[in-house]
Amino acid sequence: MTKLWKKYILWFAQEHVDFRVAEFESIVKLFGLQFRKLSEHRLNPFWLVEFPNDEAAHQYASRSIALRSIIELYSHAHTLPEFHRGLKAYVDLHQGALKELFGADSFKITVETYNKHFSQREKVDKIEAMDYLPIEGAVNLKNPQVEWWYLEFWGLDPTSVPAAPEDILFGRMLFQGQRHLIKQLSLKQRKFIGNTSMDAQLSLLMANQAMVRDGDLVFDPFVGTGSLLVSAAKFGGYVLGADIDFMMVHARCRPSRITQKVREKDESIRANLQQYGCADRYMDVLVADFSNPLWHRRISFDSIITDRGSLWNTRGDRKGGE
Ligand SMILES: C[S@@+](CC[C@H](N)C(=O)[O-])C[C@H]1O[C@@H](n2cnc3c(N)ncnc32)[C@H](O)[C@@H]1O
Repeated sequence: MTKLWKKYILWFAQEHVDFRVAEFESIVKLFGLQFRKLSEHRLNPFWLVEFPNDEAAHQYASRSIALRSIIELYSHAHTLPEFHRGLKAYVDLHQGALKELFGADSFKITVETYNKHFSQREKVDKIEAMDYLPIEGAVNLKNPQVEWWYLEFWGLDPTSVPAAPEDILFGRMLFQGQRHLIKQLSLKQRKFIGNTSMDAQLSLLMANQAMVRDGDLVFDPFVGTGSLLVSAAKFGGYVLGADIDFMMVHARCRPSRITQKVREKDESIRANLQQYGCADRYMDVLVADFSNPLWHRRISFDSIITDRGSLWNTRGDRKGGE
């Protein structure tokens, strides 16, 4: 039987874009997800992909930090007439399946235009141009049952905005990525940080590139304040670190917060993991020189993740990154 693949818009945040492809490739590999790319521009915040089903799309969203959200694609085109033709055709073709969604009690359509500003009136006009959609429910901006998104992509260069949008897209909001973790693990509220602490977003992206999964043994040989261990533990890894700097490992180094003169007695990497509900993932941190390894020849880590060199995964893949 032929598989019915579904089309999705992957909507990415425009931050750390260099990590986007590597993170995507690592997550699909981690879950063994099948996919087909329908668009090729890596820097474009909107990617079009096919997954075999919503479950695969959901699994990807359940790990991605680079991703804002996943939208089920109804229509995509490079010109407005083509876009509206495509949307009408989609609605006709999927009448049966869409009946419940268009018949929902409440809905919301959001207009998002990338690289070009439009007034509220202009946005409403864009919504009204889709008055052929057989929507029955009432508008509910706060808590709608169904959320549709109309997206226009006006290129990436703010100094040379094209005369017309390059892509026009429409679809139903399905899943959110994991960007809330960036705030949750923010260094601003973290108990123990230092000058070397790695930003939460980059740490999470790196843990994804290292394909850390629940129950893995993860090691950072240049652990510093343990930021990479935090993200690895958040994804279920059992974490272990080493650093040459005794003061750092024991959280006795100089405080890096302007407001702090001396370190609290209970600052430590372990305390950080406790703060994030991952205390059970903490194995240990040691004072050790990387150039003089103390490990038994047969010890095996699932991932080695560090910001002093390349990132490795002992399932056999070099995962890139510094
Ligand atoms: C860039 S920092 C790592 C920062 C860390 N990711 C964090 O969150 O704080 C590099 C660390 O490598 C440690 N280091 C430098 N040379 C080392 C060596 N030969 N063996 C082990 N650690 C070393 C330094 O003390 C420093 O803490």
